[in-house]
Amino acid sequence: MVEDFLMLNPGPVPLSKNVRDEMARTLVSHRSPEFAETYQQFRDGLDYVFRHSTIDGSSSTDNGMSIPLMGTATMGMESAIINLAGPKDEVVALDNGKFGERFVDIADRNCLVKPIRANWGDSFDMDSIKETITSNTHLVAMVHQDTSTGIMNPIKEVGEIAKENGAFFVVDGVSCIGGDEFKIDEWGVDVVVADAQKALAAPPGISAIFATEHALESFDNTHAGYYQDLPAYVKTTKQNKTPFTSAVTLVRAFVVALENIKEEGIQNRISRHRTQALANRAAFADMGLPMFPNLNDHSDYSNTVTVVDLPTPISDNSSDFFKAMKQRNVTASGGHAHLKNLILRMSNMGDLSTAQVLRGIQTVGEALCDCEINVDTDSALDIAEKIL
Ligand SMILES: Cc1ncc(COP(=O)(O)O)c(C=O)c1O
Repeated sequence: MVEDFLMLNPGPVPLSKNVRDEMARTLVSHRSPEFAETYQQFRDGLDYVFRHSTIDGSSSTDNGMSIPLMGTATMGMESAIINLAGPKDEVVALDNGKFGERFVDIADRNCLVKPIRANWGDSFDMDSIKETITSNTHLVAMVHQDTSTGIMNPIKEVGEIAKENGAFFVVDGVSCIGGDEFKIDEWGVDVVVADAQKALAAPPGISAIFATEHALESFDNTHAGYYQDLPAYVKTTKQNKTPFTSAVTLVRAFVVALENIKEEGIQNRISRHRTQALANRAAFADMGLPMFPNLNDHSDYSNTVTVVDLPTPISDNSSDFFKAMKQRNVTASGGHAHLKNLILRMSNMGDLSTAQVLRGIQTVGEALCDCEINVDTDSALDIAEKIL
């Protein structure tokens, strides 16, 4: 792959050189004292990000712990549900995108699921959420920023409803943690899931959850799969190891990615992500590309992935458009499932520089022109540059 390849797909995201270099180091045993030290650094780095993703830098919770998992975020989503809810428990799962749908599927396999659905990209109706979550609800599962649609869902409001009804609240923070604000106690969150390969800018393959004391006390592995036994993970995490063989190389690289975040400062990082997302939104608006999410008073645009409608005739078959981007050594994503040709999903997650964000915008403009959609790329770049 050529060196100037720029991957703006919403995960995995480009890795900094020090993260890539870390993966080339001589391996050590996952049961060695050296690795235990690395694991402690891993936990400290995760704690920093999970607890301090606040605008003023304060800690958003003073209890609980970070738990690394040796699988991707889907393992985190599933293990949180199956260690907190059993087959007879009602789980309300909210679906307005690909990853909300995943929560519904997970809950359907393991519990009594009560889905709340909206079309992908639409906002949830708060009245129907209030009606559906009742004192019979054991757990509520929801995605904060759905990478498939670019919407930001109302976590705080739904968290309040879950708490009023005594239900656990499990949140997919995959596209948010490491790139945007996340308030654990104030939003009533019991478990939040993060993935290595999104705004945390670590290599794909592993993930982490943060569980509050309330969740930790309630984890019950009776119905959990052998590999997703969270009490076992909690026990071994405290001993700086994993229940089974650790993904040593990925853990080491994740530690370096977390050190990069600490060096930038999570508050600076959140502000950079917000500015870069604003620049993408303004540039695409200037090109005449409408935002895909349909907002209401309770939702917003994601600050880590921008999703816009593709114009006709690209929306009939978007492969030439994405090929034209790739010819310029830049990639972004189309939609999932029925949205395949209809939308463009552009990430600003991770360690992107201003120049890289501008290059993404320029590439989209040029690829549109290649497909005979005449947009003024220079004007869009000017607007973005002023914001950045
Ligand atoms: C919001 C969100 N949740 C969950 C996942 C699942 O992550 P993975 O495929 O790494 O398990 C993704 C992946 O793109 C995501 O964007």
